[in-house]
Amino acid sequence: MKKALSLLTVSAMAVSMLAGCGSSNTAATTAAATTAAATEAAATEAAKTETAAATEAAAAATEAATEAAAEAGSADLADKKVGVCIYQFSDNFMTLFRNELQSYLESLGFKAENISIVDGANDQATQTNQIQNFITSGVDVLIINPVNSSSAATITDMVTEANIPLVYINREPDAQEEERWATENMNVTYVGCDARQSGTMQGEIVLDLENKGDINGDGKVSYIMIEGDPENVDAQYRTEFSVKALTDAGVEVECLDDQVGNWDQAQAQSLVANSLAQHGKDIEVVFCNNDAMALGALQAIEAAGETVGTDVYLLGVDALQEACDNVKSGKQTGTVFNDHISQSHSAADAAVKYLTGEGNEHYIGCDYVKVTTANVDDILASLG
Ligand code: GAL
Repeated sequence: MKKALSLLTVSAMAVSMLAGCGSSNTAATTAAATTAAATEAAATEAAKTETAAATEAAAAATEAATEAAAEAGSADLADKKVGVCIYQFSDNFMTLFRNELQSYLESLGFKAENISIVDGANDQATQTNQIQNFITSGVDVLIINPVNSSSAATITDMVTEANIPLVYINREPDAQEEERWATENMNVTYVGCDARQSGTMQGEIVLDLENKGDINGDGKVSYIMIEGDPENVDAQYRTEFSVKALTDAGVEVECLDDQVGNWDQAQAQSLVANSLAQHGKDIEVVFCNNDAMALGALQAIEAAGETVGTDVYLLGVDALQEACDNVKSGKQTGTVFNDHISQSHSAADAAVKYLTGEGNEHYIGCDYVKVTTANVDDILASLG
């Protein structure tokens, strides 16, 4: 009797864990309830007869109901259509993000032909048309990486008026827009990291160096800043908070140059080449708002005959594979892991929660991770 009950308890626990870990849709929950009922009925039966046969029957019932729950969940999602708008396919980081998003959505049970991912080609008018087309075609949920975060209010209105839930990713709309989602009770959320944290971590990597970035020992850190798209809050915050980490720690800084490289490797290469031609070895730290630009900066640094680690320090954000390889070999001082795996999974999970009626908070965050030679192998391993 005791044995039978404890076996059943374990089965019931396994069922409830499966329902919680997998897709959280209503059909699955209903089926899980059926499972619990089946388990309970079987428990009564087992208690009555106290035979091993009854226990086995209960376990079989549990298993069958669990399978039914899983099938009910994935069948539901297989019929759902997801529209995904990416601001620009050629962006390295967003390429990692969208590939992971596609495969994770499929693993949740969405059919590949029901997942449509489109390239905004860095043009808001193009993206607005794509959103309109998704609405007309009757998608069930939208995941949007806006070209201009400042267009978020217009996008939100278009999408919510069509009663389609919306998950923003990567480019965070402003606070006023986010507050509106809450006050107007909209099915809209943002999934992303706080870019201030990534900027601060870049500064901390410099502070952790023995000379705190002051290579020439003149009492101040002379740096250049290569910024991403200035309309993007990630660029604004990383620019501000990387330097703030140094000044907050009492380190004197001098800005030798501050240029916009639009997240782009080639643009950064030419900007850093110009800066090096003008300031040469006076530049002690090159802060790049992302790794693509740090890769461009490295090309310019090497072309100028300088060496990272001895002549200059170089920082990026994202933890692109190539940048991590450079951190490992000393060609880049550090980077900050922008976790595209966790962000894409959270975005897909949020989409599912809207589809099942469970709903979401209006902000779903994630943490950045500092990357230096100390942990780069772990990060490379987690990138797969
Ligand atoms: C940032 C990322 C950049 C770029 C940008 C696009 O979070 O670090 O590399 O992808 O998003 O909005």
